[in-house]
Amino acid sequence: MKTARLFGAALAAAATATSTVTLAQDRGAAVFEQHCVVCHAAKGEGNPGFAPKLAGNLAERARKSTGHTYFAQLVVSGMMGPIVSGGEKFNDAMPSFAALPDEDIVAVLGYVLGDLNGVAADQRVTPQDVATARQRALPPNEVRKLRDR
Ligand code: HEC
Repeated sequence: MKTARLFGAALAAAATATSTVTLAQDRGAAVFEQHCVVCHAAKGEGNPGFAPKLAGNLAERARKSTGHTYFAQLVVSGMMGPIVSGGEKFNDAMPSFAALPDEDIVAVLGYVLGDLNGVAADQRVTPQDVATARQRALPPNEVRKLRDR
């Protein structure tokens, strides 16, 4: 009886953990749909000459130690300045999303890095990364320099 109850509790805990993960993923997709698709397109394929492709182009940067600083800062502060992405030049402005709550920034970056770039969960941007980015918010042209590190 006691074992059965413990087992039941473990199942309930597992179910809660799973639905929390699913919710976070859904949240990221929803935030992306609402705020990012307009420029980066529905599946992050980008808009030639305007907004860079996000799908499949970001995994290498996400795995570098400086990558989290860059991605968190990019969404908090925005970015301005010329970049080359997938061999194509871009020179437009990515707006700041500082008005979004931290959870939404973590969730949308989880969606972009995880779902669109196959980056493992433990290599994605954390709530701590976003909190740090807020404390050290930068002008958009300074964020551009983080991309080169
Ligand atoms: C108004 C259009 C616009 C919106 C909305 C927008 N972006 Fe961007 N984004 C850009 C542009 C333009 C750039 C490139 C900026 C540059 O050339 O310096 C960019 C760059 C990026 C990059 C860097 C890509 C790289 O190769 O380094 C990421 C990641 C990104 N955006 C994610 C997002 C996310 C996530 C959202 C939604 C929360 C979003 N963007 C919303 C226009 C937009």
